[in-house]
Amino acid sequence: MKIKVLGSSAGGGFPQWNCNCRNCDGVRNGTLNAQRRTQSSIVVSANGEDWLLVNASPDLLAQIAAHPELQPARRARDSGIAAVVTMDAQIDHVTGLLMLRERDTPLPLYITDAVLQDLSTGLPVVSILAHYCGVERHAIPLDGASFAVPALPGIRIEALPLSSKAPPYSPHREAPQRGDNIGLTFIDEHSGKRAFYAPGLGALEPHVLEAMNGADLLLVDGTLWTPDEMIELGLSKKTAANMGHLAQTGAGGMIEVLDSIERAGVRKVLIHINNTNPILIEDSPERRRLAEHGIEVAFDGLAFEL
Ligand code: MLT
Ligand code: MN
Ligand code: ZN
Repeated sequence: MKIKVLGSSAGGGFPQWNCNCRNCDGVRNGTLNAQRRTQSSIVVSANGEDWLLVNASPDLLAQIAAHPELQPARRARDSGIAAVVTMDAQIDHVTGLLMLRERDTPLPLYITDAVLQDLSTGLPVVSILAHYCGVERHAIPLDGASFAVPALPGIRIEALPLSSKAPPYSPHREAPQRGDNIGLTFIDEHSGKRAFYAPGLGALEPHVLEAMNGADLLLVDGTLWTPDEMIELGLSKKTAANMGHLAQTGAGGMIEVLDSIERAGVRKVLIHINNTNPILIEDSPERRRLAEHGIEVAFDGLAFEL
């Protein structure tokens, strides 16, 4: 199983177009030891030619251009993106769907009922696609059963409902529905290896910890260093919890959670990193602290073979 990080930043990207925080300013001016990052997305493949796009970011076209393996050029019109799965209805995870409208066959889309509802009403990208390539909808089981995507032979996928947040535009924001946010485990049937992906993790419930404990690769919520980072910088009134994210530091924070996972050989990688997070600075004390805990920070282009 091959996994590639297309975009490792949270919504807004790094640098964010209108942000002059220390990180955004520093990466823009080249005065900080940090790399630019596009918005949240990964791809998964069994054969390296046919890929499942996991979340479709607003930066999708630039991400495709940066990854030639997504353009195998087998026909006049062709793409390595064989299907898409969405994990929530957030703008950073779904607006890229519109960029796939030139397909000549309906887009295979794996999506929960709750997310499909948002994408057919408040942000109706699925309804809009019906006027272009169309969508071949596949439901995602939320009862623990695994599912498969035909273009990824030998890979099983398990979805688990998460406590996080539906987007601000959604009626589910204050009335959560099962399936608004999911985590995904990708299982390679040949190697037996498992990768757990959850860019938005609001709370670590027992079923989430169980999935994390069984994984050989953890790609998890790295949005914020402290719960009130955006408030302290005067950039937002929202805490990490308000946004459905678990900060890295503090009691019960992501560092503590990852410390509790002791599976031999497991890789612990933070992804969906907000532009304010000091871990984006490669030589920061915060980054050193992560390294002391064996935790890596994802970057665009990071690849895994499991
Ligand atoms: C989030 O993950 O909290 C959202 O993506 C933020 C956003 O896109 O505005
Ligand atoms: Mn996001
Ligand atoms: Zn910023």
